[in-house]
Amino acid sequence: MSSTATTMTDPAESARLGLALPPVSARSCLPLPSPSRLGWESSLPARVWRAWRRGGLPYLRHKAMRRLLERWPGLKRRWLYADPRDYWTLRGGHDYFLEQEGQPARARRAEWMAERVAQLRPRSILEVGCGYGKQLVALRRRLGEEVRLVGVDFSPSQLDTARRHLDDHGVRRVDLVQADGVCLPFADASFDLVFTSAVILHNPPQQAEAIRREVVRVARRFAVHNEDVNITYNRYGYDTAAWYRARGIVLIECTPIPLDQAEEAAVSQFCVACLDRDEQTRIDADAHPCLLDH
Ligand SMILES: C[S@@+](CC[C@H](N)C(=O)[O-])C[C@H]1O[C@@H](n2cnc3c(N)ncnc32)[C@H](O)[C@@H]1O
Repeated sequence: MSSTATTMTDPAESARLGLALPPVSARSCLPLPSPSRLGWESSLPARVWRAWRRGGLPYLRHKAMRRLLERWPGLKRRWLYADPRDYWTLRGGHDYFLEQEGQPARARRAEWMAERVAQLRPRSILEVGCGYGKQLVALRRRLGEEVRLVGVDFSPSQLDTARRHLDDHGVRRVDLVQADGVCLPFADASFDLVFTSAVILHNPPQQAEAIRREVVRVARRFAVHNEDVNITYNRYGYDTAAWYRARGIVLIECTPIPLDQAEEAAVSQFCVACLDRDEQTRIDADAHPCLLDH
């Protein structure tokens, strides 16, 4: 399916919401590689060549710095990560796609999370920080087109790749919106469920706090997070579950993600906050032992 033949976003819905969708840039129209070419596509010469073609010198410099500063996370954070939006935009959705699609464990993690989310039977989902749309694809596989899916990301290069990724998977009726999670362009309680995966942790404390508040503001029933708790050059490492507990918000699930490598599992945190009191009474406590803590 060509990237122009199908529109991943629903224009009528976007118009109704008054949302402007950023144009797809010419550079981003380079095709996404098939999985069989991921080996070559991931090799260093191929990446350097593609980096030059894709984003010119700024992008190539950014990639080189990421590699060179590998052993100095402090400098890496200061020089490359001062502005998370710049970082994710320069890094590019295509690079992120290659890194993630080359790791079967990441696919299993996305499927595991999509299954947990689908069990909550949401009628509408907002993913904040959707990246190239991996999770949106996994969600759509389980949830029919009657379930509204919206992906937000502040990086235009991630959204460009997301459009093509959704298209490649024949995923339709997903709105992609360029916005910062600190100020979501949606009304209060406008989604059944709001989801973040590895997003809040990329933001410094003040922004992270604003994102959590925005998630709770726009979510009607559930807020679902996968946010690692460890600190690296581009991760601030937050205990999201503790944030909810401190506000008296009921968690129906809080667990490491079981499918990750042992060391990844140890720092992962998947939690589901239930924001609707009526909903809490309907939840099966046997399936959600966390409820018993409240
Ligand atoms: C590690 S990627 C995760 C992508 C996706 N959630 C997944 O699991 O595949 C982080 C994504 O969050 C986006 N992001 C980080 N902070 C954000 C913010 N404050 N507002 C919107 N998007 C943000 C980045 O642009 C990037 O695409």
